Amino acid sequence: MVITIDGPAGSGKSTVAQEVARRLGFAFLNTGHMYRALGLAARRREVDLNNHMELTFVARHAKVEFDWTKNPPAVILNGERVTHLLGSREVSDAASYIAVVPAIREMMVHQQRAIGTELGDVVTEGRDQGTIVFPTAQCKFYIDASPEERARRRYNQMRSRSESVEYKEVLDQILARDKRDRDRLVGPLEKPVDAIAIDSTSLAFNDVVDTIISRVEAVR
Ligand code: DC
Repeated sequence: MVITIDGPAGSGKSTVAQEVARRLGFAFLNTGHMYRALGLAARRREVDLNNHMELTFVARHAKVEFDWTKNPPAVILNGERVTHLLGSREVSDAASYIAVVPAIREMMVHQQRAIGTELGDVVTEGRDQGTIVFPTAQCKFYIDASPEERARRRYNQMRSRSESVEYKEVLDQILARDKRDRDRLVGPLEKPVDAIAIDSTSLAFNDVVDTIISRVEAVR
């Protein structure tokens, strides 16, 4: 069974997807981590992030894998464990340039489908999981929250890591990221027509998880 959870940056979908997977005993696929791993590879090779040919070359020579024995699964780039490097602003930024390149998205879609087949029962999260990668998934969700609330969550998260940042700056980044995610021509962020929409702006984490689990159990 495939469960897709899509939504914008900061909607909380990663932590929700991870908890849903844990409670159901499913594997958890974080597709953002795949784009981030390629973003890291591009940064390391110091390529021009606007040059699609160079980015595609980097992506073709980067092997992104997961160690499924870890929870959450660890990300491996060309044999190196890199999960701890994927949260930085530089990598996140580079990933958003990677994500607009059609040839790279095609590779990612292909690999994500192969992973889905290999894992069987999987909760997968991203931007295009219910629309493009797993259009026939049995259960689809779209988690959203207001930009202000998503920025507040990001801001609190960054402050708790002692990063010095202004709320306004975080909000502007969220709005810019939303625009890039929604406006790209291939695999844009959009709610799958058959997905259940959950607005998490004023919902507690556990309420979001419970809503998803009860829906999944109803169709299982
Ligand atoms: O969800 P995230 O912030 O880790 O995603 C990193 C980047 O990758 C972000 O710019 C959106 C993009 N992405 C995507 O285009 N498609 C996906 N399925 C997952 C992430």
